[in-house]
Amino acid sequence: MSQYQTVCEQLQHAPKTWLVTGVAGFIGSNLLETLLKLNQKVVGLDNFATGHKYNLDEVQNLVSAEQWANFKFYEGDIRNLEDCKKTCANVDYVLHQAALGSVPRSIADPITTNAANITGFLNMLVAARDANVSSFTYAASSSTYGDHPALPKVEENIGNPLSPYAVTKYVNELYADVFARTYGFKAIGLRYFNVFGKRQDPNGAYAAVIPKWTAAMIMGGDVFINGDGETSRDFCFIENTVQANILAATTQNDEAKNQVYNVAVGDRTTLNDLFNAIKAALNENVVTYTKEPVYRDFRAGDVRHSQADISKISNSLGYEGQYNVLQGIGEAMPWYVNQIQSSD
Ligand SMILES: NC(=O)c1ccc[n+]([C@@H]2O[C@H](COP(=O)([O-])OP(=O)(O)OC[C@H]3O[C@@H](n4cnc5c(N)ncnc54)[C@H](O)[C@@H]3O)[C@@H](O)[C@H]2O)c1
Repeated sequence: MSQYQTVCEQLQHAPKTWLVTGVAGFIGSNLLETLLKLNQKVVGLDNFATGHKYNLDEVQNLVSAEQWANFKFYEGDIRNLEDCKKTCANVDYVLHQAALGSVPRSIADPITTNAANITGFLNMLVAARDANVSSFTYAASSSTYGDHPALPKVEENIGNPLSPYAVTKYVNELYADVFARTYGFKAIGLRYFNVFGKRQDPNGAYAAVIPKWTAAMIMGGDVFINGDGETSRDFCFIENTVQANILAATTQNDEAKNQVYNVAVGDRTTLNDLFNAIKAALNENVVTYTKEPVYRDFRAGDVRHSQADISKISNSLGYEGQYNVLQGIGEAMPWYVNQIQSSD
């Protein structure tokens, strides 16, 4: 039995109370779904900046009435310390996901990104420390590797940040480390590498590549590739990310705390290969896309290649990336086809 299966069984026998910030977003709502299905109690916090009420409604439809009754939602803002304090009260494990994602958004408006991602993060650390929670796990980012050329990415070797967003995520790690040294409050940072899956928003100027392309293909629109298409990423299916959060939150190993971990598959897919993989997976779902991609300029702030070394999280937390990129795309496509065709 894997460490993840063992932990899930233990949680079902002895349910805990979790706070998920950013619960109406992509990753937050998937954490919520898994935790409720494991009969956990969940407190959720979100201000709907980029998350949606319909993500919560969808989770409600996927769990039983008894499980849904274990969820308490607060509409509030992590930039407001009182909201953080209110939601941290009587919580065992915090999964802090709320932030403004997207490199281009942070380039367009660094002040708003800074407020949510740094002030909001600090508020959450203070509130969680004062509430004496058992663990604090937060969404860090592979953008922290910045311009460091080495592949695969190993946690200790980071370069210079390439965007305001990357600065904010690195500052999160610095604050977390200082809270461990200064107050003995030991958080765990999960450096996510391009997470994808159901409920990732395909709309808006700052949509991520997989939902954006998938929606364009389903609607018969153009798919734009920034650069020559040989840019590569370690695309990580959401179920792997959920697993990493649950393992990090519940670890009993003190040495595994006050650490950051890569969360990915340890593989690398070019944008050109990604285009073909999504096209093939949609074909399996009776969506035929016949256009060629449209190539345009490279995007400012983007790193060229990204691939994680996942040995640290595997060794310390027992993480196993269960889904590779093709399996994840196969799992995610029916949801997008259903979602986009029914809203058409
Ligand atoms: N998706 C990825 O590939 C990826 C990669 C690296 C890191 N991350 C990080 O993972 C976390 C979750 O990202 P996601 O992809 O689910 O994005 P998302 O935009 O779907 O979710 C973020 C959620 O946070 C909420 N939020 C934003 N500002 C808030 C505030 N001030 N107060 C309360 N709630 C607020 C949003 O409304 C949204 O529901 C973020 O911290 C992001 O930086 C994501």
